[in-house]
Amino acid sequence: MATTINQLVSVVVLLGLLIALKQEFTVAQIGVCYGRMGNNLPSPTEVVALCNQNNIQRMRIYDPHQPTLRALSCSNIELILGVPNTDLQSLASSQDNASTWVQNNVINYPTVRFRYISVGNEVSPLNSNTSQYVGFVLPALRNIYNAISAAGLDTLIKVSTAIETGVLGNSFPPEDGVFRDDVREYLNGIITFLVNIRAPLLVNIYPYFAYIGNKPNIDLQYALLASDGIVVRGGIRYQNLFYAILDAMYAALEKSSGSSLEIVVSESGWPSAGGDAASVDNARTYNTNLIQRVRGGTPKRPGRAIETYIFAMFDENQRDGNEIERHFGIFTQPKYPISFN
Ligand SMILES: *[C@@H]1O[C@H](CO)[C@@H](O)[C@H](O)[C@H]1NC(C)=O
Ligand SMILES: *[C@@H]1O[C@H](CO)[C@@H](O)[C@H](O)[C@H]1NC(C)=O
Repeated sequence: MATTINQLVSVVVLLGLLIALKQEFTVAQIGVCYGRMGNNLPSPTEVVALCNQNNIQRMRIYDPHQPTLRALSCSNIELILGVPNTDLQSLASSQDNASTWVQNNVINYPTVRFRYISVGNEVSPLNSNTSQYVGFVLPALRNIYNAISAAGLDTLIKVSTAIETGVLGNSFPPEDGVFRDDVREYLNGIITFLVNIRAPLLVNIYPYFAYIGNKPNIDLQYALLASDGIVVRGGIRYQNLFYAILDAMYAALEKSSGSSLEIVVSESGWPSAGGDAASVDNARTYNTNLIQRVRGGTPKRPGRAIETYIFAMFDENQRDGNEIERHFGIFTQPKYPISFN
């Protein structure tokens, strides 16, 4: 009898602990982007261990790299899985191919905690490197969603795509945020689809590039989330540029029948070298402040934590483009200590 009660007590205590832990996970809205465009990176197993050591509960990856998915199995880390842009055409053209993709990369990993599938990254009519994929995003989204839905996973795993903020025309004051005319047709189809399937929109948000592009009008400390902020029309205080860009995106969505959409910030970060205002100090300041600031909401979404993924875990020495692109890592040693607590 005594044993039974003791066992019962243990079960109750354990349950309580699990619930408490689960709440901690839910509260921790910050994740990391694990890009692998480098020839000097730790193994997926080491990367997952690094996440565990740092209490990181969420991760974004950019392709269904099988060793990474194996390393994530049973890890408890929630995942954004990317469909590479180069796969979009095949997945858009064939439901069978989309279903096979979902079978091989999602269903075959029953102990990976998939949270979202990002069908494409930064595909935009305005980006000369990704504009060739514009016609494939919506049909690929639909086919991947059909496959997820057929597997009965659609309430568990949301299907979306990640866009960048270059699609905004006006973005200041944030309430005046609006999409450019030349992307509206493309985005409208995606927005309508996401509203229907109740999935969030993923948005990559970089105050760094906004600052670099408009230095005369933007205070560096405001971009680094380190000032008291500014007051805009209507007496609304914006503590930082990250909140302002996010709210401009929300305002643009409202004007495009997307007011019910939630935004998940699928990338944000600051470079530690390789260009203007890129330094270890600034990167540490930005990322440390970001971890704190995403716990609170923006003026348009007060009190609502902002699910955000820091770009990136590591400097990626084989990443294309400007030098700056290769210096966003937070764990490339030795840079700076950062706490996710
Ligand atoms: C489906 O996938 C196969 C294998 O990758 C590919 O050869 C084929 O072209 C794809 N089908 C379509 C319609 O894209
Ligand atoms: C396109 O890719 C090239 C080479 O990777 C890069 O230098 C350039 O910045 C990219 N352009 C855009 C618009 O992203």
